[in-house]
Amino acid sequence: MGTEILIFDTALKAAEACGQQTLNLLEEARRDRGIATIALSGGSTPRLMFQWMSKYPFEWRAIELFQVDERCVPPGDPSSNFRMIRESLQDSAPIEKIAMHRIQGELPPPEAATAYVKDVRTVLHLDGGTLPEFDVIQRGMGPDAHTASLFPGEPLIRDQTHIAAAVYVDNPDMPAATRHRVTLLGGVLERARHTLCLATGEEKAEALYRVLRGPANPFETPSQIASPDTTWYIDQAAASRL
Ligand code: 6PG
Repeated sequence: MGTEILIFDTALKAAEACGQQTLNLLEEARRDRGIATIALSGGSTPRLMFQWMSKYPFEWRAIELFQVDERCVPPGDPSSNFRMIRESLQDSAPIEKIAMHRIQGELPPPEAATAYVKDVRTVLHLDGGTLPEFDVIQRGMGPDAHTASLFPGEPLIRDQTHIAAAVYVDNPDMPAATRHRVTLLGGVLERARHTLCLATGEEKAEALYRVLRGPANPFETPSQIASPDTTWYIDQAAASRL
């Protein structure tokens, strides 16, 4: 329990270890509770991890797979997180066999958020006021220390009431099409039974230093949001400033 930091020689080794632990935790949760729930992030870093997972002989039965966040684009768009997850997982784990609950990025953002919340509640049998406790939430981190689609200064980081919401990222450096997003919120991230954070590459080193060694301020450093059991999988390059 607590926060653990695991450093690997290469990004591939970090991705494989994170993938292996994800499958172990899912197996354990399914054994204990009959089903296992996981939320996966997007971006580019987890691709290696998902590809590794897709090649590992794993029975996806009774695994309910959700998204941590999505860019508000159609599911076939190159910047769609759903597309990345589907493509990288499908090598030997045919996505049709996985119960995947996607965020409908093609809808207007508030509608996509409402539909997603409804989906989470239905699948997990939650009443109106209860937040989900995912068995595993896999997260990444941006060079500005954002996680999920919770960017520095986003008021919804502190939200302890809602499951997911639409956010707008006012960042001119970000392609306009991906500024509208839907994301799980702080209270849900904090309630995960296990959080696995995967961050690799030199461009993450400075943010990682702030997250792991700087003063605690998740409002400005959202990747500091943690659940009681949080593990960081990082490579030497990302760890270079620690
Ligand atoms: C997204 C994410 C996001 C991601 C970080 C890191 O939609 O972008 O889910 O939180 O994890 O931005 O992204 P990279 O792996 O591409 O650096």
